Amino acid sequence: MSPPTIQWLNGRVKLIDQTQLPNELKYIICRDVEALWQAIRRLSVRGAPALGVAAAFGVLLGIKTFRGNNRRKFEEHIKKVSAYLASSRPTAVNLFYGLEEMKKVVAVHPSASVAQLKKHLHQRAMELYEEDRRVCRRMGDFGAELIRSGDRVMTVCNAGALATVDYGTALGVMYSAKRKGKKFSVYACETRPLLQGARLTAWELLRGGIDTTLICDNMAATLMKQGKVDRIFVGADRIAANGDTANKIGTYNLAVLAKHHKIPFYVVAPLSTVDFKTKSGKQIPIEERHSSEVTHFGQRLTAPLKVKVYNPAFDVTDHQLITGIVTEKGVICPPFEKNIKKYAFNSR
Ligand code: MRU
Repeated sequence: MSPPTIQWLNGRVKLIDQTQLPNELKYIICRDVEALWQAIRRLSVRGAPALGVAAAFGVLLGIKTFRGNNRRKFEEHIKKVSAYLASSRPTAVNLFYGLEEMKKVVAVHPSASVAQLKKHLHQRAMELYEEDRRVCRRMGDFGAELIRSGDRVMTVCNAGALATVDYGTALGVMYSAKRKGKKFSVYACETRPLLQGARLTAWELLRGGIDTTLICDNMAATLMKQGKVDRIFVGADRIAANGDTANKIGTYNLAVLAKHHKIPFYVVAPLSTVDFKTKSGKQIPIEERHSSEVTHFGQRLTAPLKVKVYNPAFDVTDHQLITGIVTEKGVICPPFEKNIKKYAFNSR
């Protein structure tokens, strides 16, 4: 199991620098909000739930520099810091969830002083950190029930310990299934262009002692045709109210293939990944990243420099292609529009 992806340590944020994996397990210390913003942007820290915690820690970094006792000015400062962090990456709703939860702290303590608010904000950020750890383990337990011994499971990108504080969503299901003594194996899609599957998922599953085979993304269809895939588990960056799910580019390909080959396709995500303000996948903002991620392999050019590039970082899987959504309150089945609400708003 990998060490915590993100930590708050002595007024700083300590992160695993995921751009260096699997070659080196190196850490970055972010001392100010700008350093954290850069770390998010270049994917040193990434994965929706980890971004939620990073955003909350980012607010803590941002308020460190605020001097004085003027509450109104402090509130304005928090708004500015939040807006800045919100500009780092657009798709993972957890980042915005982290920021909203921090803003709520201010709203629920209308007469607190600046010093008191700073304490409350610190406490809330730590709760979000612990919430992620707890919720991932709950999803793992529910999802593990869907894995049978002997299964060959497929996943894409990295929805593991490295995408959360320390356990994972889709990969958390696999860790929990292993703990329950189930024997199964995993196909990890490499996940072009930035290879989160090859660099991160393969790295952490091997450390977790899980039987893992790495494949190029374009091999998934052949494996399914050969009858070598029993079920698919993926993470999510944002789930619309109707169940349409944004996740790493290539997820939709797998979902379409899974439908054709009659393979169950599960999304694993905390309920904080559901964005009720977004009715369907059509409204989910999709991040487009720099062309060099497609034209280069590390420093090496792999395409003519002048070629036009389209590089969306995420795609949207229509809810009709999803078998179930594994959450911390259980596995949500269709009809998603109705059932997501039921799970999110009923206490279980
Ligand atoms: O661009 P990334 O690496 O941040 O994309 C991450 C993903 O798409 C994950 O699958 C998703 O955030 C879920 S992580 C539990």
